[in-house]
Amino acid sequence: MDDQDPIASRRDMLRLAGLASLGAGLARAAQDTAPAGESVAGMPFEVRSKVRLGFIGIGGRGTSLIEEFSAIPDVEILALCDVVAEKAGKAKAGLVKAGKPAPALYHNGDHDYEKLVARDDLDLVIIATPWIWHVPMALAGMKHGKHVAVEVPAARTIDDCWALVDTSEATRRHCIQLENCCYGYNEMLVWNMVRAGLFGEITHAACAYNHDLREILFSNEGEGLWRRFEHLDRNGNLYPTHGLGPVAHYLDINRGDRFDTLVSMSSPVASLPEYRKTHLAAGDPRQKEIYRCGDLNISLIRTARGKVITLEHNTSTPQPYDRINLVAGTKGIFRDYPPRIYVDGSHDEAFGSIDPYKARFEHAYWTKVGAMAKQLGGHGGMDFVMAWRLIECIKQGVAPDIDVYDAAAWSAPGPLSEQSVAGGSAPVKFPDFTRHRWQKAAG
Ligand SMILES: NC(=O)c1ccc[n+]([C@@H]2O[C@H](COP(=O)([O-])OP(=O)(O)OC[C@H]3O[C@@H](n4cnc5c(N)ncnc54)[C@H](O)[C@@H]3O)[C@@H](O)[C@H]2O)c1
Repeated sequence: MDDQDPIASRRDMLRLAGLASLGAGLARAAQDTAPAGESVAGMPFEVRSKVRLGFIGIGGRGTSLIEEFSAIPDVEILALCDVVAEKAGKAKAGLVKAGKPAPALYHNGDHDYEKLVARDDLDLVIIATPWIWHVPMALAGMKHGKHVAVEVPAARTIDDCWALVDTSEATRRHCIQLENCCYGYNEMLVWNMVRAGLFGEITHAACAYNHDLREILFSNEGEGLWRRFEHLDRNGNLYPTHGLGPVAHYLDINRGDRFDTLVSMSSPVASLPEYRKTHLAAGDPRQKEIYRCGDLNISLIRTARGKVITLEHNTSTPQPYDRINLVAGTKGIFRDYPPRIYVDGSHDEAFGSIDPYKARFEHAYWTKVGAMAKQLGGHGGMDFVMAWRLIECIKQGVAPDIDVYDAAAWSAPGPLSEQSVAGGSAPVKFPDFTRHRWQKAAG
């Protein structure tokens, strides 16, 4: 895999993308003939005292997720799948070294995951593969009776978002989006502040995935083998959920409000072509690639209740990491990077530190497992808090925090921004993946 010719591999990826979306299209067509499913919002998990997991995709992300989940008591990892046998083998060796039972391995080609999801001893399948594989793998898992948890973004077309919703409803299996940023210390602290009314009536928010990925995009391993190809054929927000997930929580999206309309603009493409001039050999075939995705994509989203969100995506230019993470209302504002707060009348018109607020607003999950989360360290601890909380939901037999309607709505700005940019920044409508059930507030 690591020695692949990039152009040939791009052709393969596009062929696979075609197959993947064809699969989802077929699934949609099949579901269209069935009555719309009963909602899975609030549907509890079956109670389990031990939670049995299978993993598909043991690259950078899959490996770190295995570390987080395997650190949780009562988790059993029974099966691992990756097309690269050494990656699955290395993860297995790590588990055995840590005193865990040896998981079964699946590494015989692109579709060996179908054998993993067909096992009858898994409660949840975790999917951390390149984006084009998320939907076919999630659909296969649910159709085999497994709950699935999918890396971000869950889907990259609107048809695929619907395929996830239709299949989750038809199979009564959850499709969870593994949006770790929803579990960050600041995000959970701020969510508590919002719910306590500290910022008054919320009117707007801003969020982003602004992360200089140039080195990773041109790497000869890991994401460099697939992620840059998304820049060839798509122009929009390729990775919306890290910023949008936490903001969706602040704004009660799918639980009293919903994303309604989006307009989007993309800047020119300049930074990837400039970077490769000085970082790749003159004869490298990647010098001939033509990128369509503008360096910066910026979208405006209006919710059904009239709230406004700005959403940015920029993985191409030199810049410090920034998810913005701003929420504001009639009584104050929070914004991140660095974290700062202003509450009406409290700081003489200057932002202040969030430290004095921590004792009152720290989220209970962080109070409970924050020390362990920091010790494991994945993305500052948010990865462990997410993993622990998902396993707790299964053990307690309650609904997951993030369900298929969230996975679809948070992923949808990808294809919708492409559509808006292609249409001269025309407004485009979000589908109502909840089928009008969004008006019901969270219980
Ligand atoms: N939430 C986060 O913070 C975060 C961070 C990094 C990546 N991600 C997401 O995780 C996913 C994986 O990213 P990554 O960085 O681990 O990429 P990666 O390239 O390192 O890993 C992907 C793995 O999937 C394997 N794979 C590809 N096709 C397969 C198939 N048909 N069957 C089985 N295995 C297959 C590859 O061999 C590879 O090991 C992506 O969706 C990415 O967006 C999320």
